Amino acid sequence: MYICVCRAITERDIGSAVAEGCCNLRQLREQTGLGACCGRCTQCARDVLKDALQTHAPISQAPARFAAVQRGAGA
Ligand code: FES
Repeated sequence: MYICVCRAITERDIGSAVAEGCCNLRQLREQTGLGACCGRCTQCARDVLKDALQTHAPISQAPARFAAVQRGAGA
């Protein structure tokens, strides 16, 4: 599914960015250009990024609260 129509960035692209070490919206924007045109995708991208961090990010690179979720310690 397209998340950023202006830049043709999909949910899968966001997952790939997270797998490569992206761990916040600022990094996602820098890495993909997401949100650089109309900006309407920002909230949806934030939600998709959150989900991707919970499923794709290496524990060593995930923000502490997501790492805790991955370890089963809760948020
Ligand atoms: S939809 Fe992402 S910048 Fe327009």
